[in-house]
Amino acid sequence: MVHVRTTKGFMITIRNFEMPDIRRVAEIEEQTSLDGDAGMYLDLYEGWPEGFLVAEKGGEIIAFEVVVLTPEGEGRIFALAVDSRYRGRGVGRALLKAAFSTLRRRKIGYVVLEVRVSNQIAQRLYRSMGFFEIGFIPLYYKDGEGAMVMRKVL
Ligand SMILES: CC(C)(COP(=O)(O)OP(=O)(O)OC[C@H]1O[C@@H](n2cnc3c(N)ncnc32)[C@H](O)[C@@H]1OP(=O)(O)O)[C@@H](O)C(=O)NCCC(=O)NCCS
Repeated sequence: MVHVRTTKGFMITIRNFEMPDIRRVAEIEEQTSLDGDAGMYLDLYEGWPEGFLVAEKGGEIIAFEVVVLTPEGEGRIFALAVDSRYRGRGVGRALLKAAFSTLRRRKIGYVVLEVRVSNQIAQRLYRSMGFFEIGFIPLYYKDGEGAMVMRKVL
């Protein structure tokens, strides 16, 4: 568990996911156009518990991030979402930094992710964190939208 001051001066706690957190994770997920669901996140958690982080404010979970390890030995940001009431306060950026630290400790050299072509806000965040566009996957999301693939050297 770490207490973090975000780049916007907002104080949060970042810690590993625990089972009772899943209800809040599902609520936050529902506010987004991510394609995940609670069952999928729990499966990924079992695969690599260290990769599932939550951010808390005043004892309430306000954001989560699911990172997995790919068969190629890279990190992959599988999901990142901040409760809509708490966006724009540096929480997403702080969770990404926390994931980079975890991956570096594991001597992982790269991190990849997929993001909706229309999701300019997330793309801007990822570019500012050192991600570059490396590809495009048509029809990636259930609604038919394509994904931009991005990668960063850790
Ligand atoms: C994308 C998301 C995780 C960003 O989290 P956040 O905590 O709001 O982002 P931060 O406050 O850390 O902002 C980081 C950067 O994102 C970009 N950003 C955030 N909000 C923005 C907005 N309203 N307009 C434009 N850019 C924005 C900016 O580049 C910002 O950096 P800056 O403020 O220094 O310019 C959040 O908007 C979210 O949960 N969205 C819905 C789910 C989603 O799209 N997840 C990503 C899927 S790949």
